[in-house]
Amino acid sequence: MKLSVALLALGLACAAQAAPTVDPGIPESLSIQGSVDILITFRDYQTASIRNRFKHLSFNSRTNLIQSFYATLKSHADATQKNVLALLNQSRTTSDIKIRQLWLTNKIIVKKADSTLIDSLASMPEIDTITRDRLITTLKPIDAVDASPRVGEQWGVALLDAPSVWADGNSGNGTVIANIDTGVRGTHEALRDGLRSVNSWYDPAQGTKVPTDDNGHGTHTMGTICGRANGIGVAPGAQWIACRGCARGGGCYQFDLEECAQWIVCPTDEEGNNPRCDLAPNAVSNSWGGGQDEKWYDPYIDSWITAGIAALFANGNDGPGCRSANSPADSIIEPIAVGATTSIDEVASFSSIGPTIRYRRFKPDISAPGEGVYSSLHSSDTAYGTGSGTSMACPHAAGLTALLYSARPSLTHRQIADLLIAGAQPTKSSERECLGISDTVFPNYQAGYGRISARASIDELNRWTKA
Ligand SMILES: *[C@@H]1O[C@H](CO)[C@@H](O)[C@H](O)[C@H]1NC(C)=O
Ligand SMILES: *[C@@H]1O[C@H](CO)[C@@H](O)[C@H](O)[C@H]1NC(C)=O
Repeated sequence: MKLSVALLALGLACAAQAAPTVDPGIPESLSIQGSVDILITFRDYQTASIRNRFKHLSFNSRTNLIQSFYATLKSHADATQKNVLALLNQSRTTSDIKIRQLWLTNKIIVKKADSTLIDSLASMPEIDTITRDRLITTLKPIDAVDASPRVGEQWGVALLDAPSVWADGNSGNGTVIANIDTGVRGTHEALRDGLRSVNSWYDPAQGTKVPTDDNGHGTHTMGTICGRANGIGVAPGAQWIACRGCARGGGCYQFDLEECAQWIVCPTDEEGNNPRCDLAPNAVSNSWGGGQDEKWYDPYIDSWITAGIAALFANGNDGPGCRSANSPADSIIEPIAVGATTSIDEVASFSSIGPTIRYRRFKPDISAPGEGVYSSLHSSDTAYGTGSGTSMACPHAAGLTALLYSARPSLTHRQIADLLIAGAQPTKSSERECLGISDTVFPNYQAGYGRISARASIDELNRWTKA
């Protein structure tokens, strides 16, 4: 008897908390702008268990895996979102809202929601939260300090020994690498021949139809991944696709970054239609980040890894102090976190270092050239310039990832991480330490396992093949 009373009381408590939590800043946004972009999350949050299930299923191809992953998540989202989607569809007839379903994480973004709509949503029990957009970080434009073409392989490409891998007939051919950045100047001489022809561009904020960059950061990072002129690219035979998550003055906003993350798994056309899960890239390079020990991007990183897409992040530019690694690089989902080195193979002083706030892990995992990196720029089809940051290091590792995938297309994210680590070379000591661990032992909190090497990682993969 006592037991049933207790259960009843528990049931009542659940029912009583059924109203969605509405971001307290929404009324203010509405009073200033008349409408506000919102993100709706749902109580029936089973996407984590779906991801976990897919980690243990086997498929005869990655395409079959991702298509099945998509079908399962899409029908889960459609079912839990049914009433909300019907309401939104109805309100579309009287307002100019835009609806973007995030099937990957069972959320919905609504652009330009007004107070009437928000009031209606706020009474729907299946909704968990309604929140506003926020700025995650702002990427600074690259200064075109050196616009004259420098011939030959650039120092980072040469230091990685990438040309010796190209000499084996592997320049990243047959692979596709994505970035989430300020966009890419698609007509640049170093990039236009590497742009994939279909479902290769998405700009959630501004809706541009072709690869565009008004900042320079994203054109520079893509040039380092796969640029085909002036020796700037680590994998000049790779193709690229891009999502513009940092469109507004270099500002990377949460909603755009969430839309981009989903696009990576099943890239759509530039209108956001016709998702093609068979066109998922091999890897995604993320030269953005902010804050520490933040978890909001974890479901996306977990989705990429589950879908067989290698996930790489710049570790941040908040060095040299210990415990300065940024999110999402410091995520416990373990994306590959990349620190920056100089041309004399020291860790750059700006490069964020470990240990992480959570569990004191080594982040970066590995380091790559990131100071004075010469690559393509957005200002013309022949513009180049020099940039510094872990933003420049991450694409070196992404380019090497393309070489590894070209050699063996079936590699997993974890195997890519292991190969980058196995090939890492000791960096020079700057006589630094954290938690008593010196930068002369590896791994250490400054460099991780060391500076990556294309030759050494490919040699390690060849040993795996022989074994
Ligand atoms: C949305 O509304 C239109 C009519 O305005 C209707 O034809 C369509 O079936 C509706 N779609 C959904 C998903 O409710
Ligand atoms: C890349 O090109 C080489 C040489 O032509 C070829 O052997 C290899 O299969 C190609 N790799 C991919 C992934 O297409």
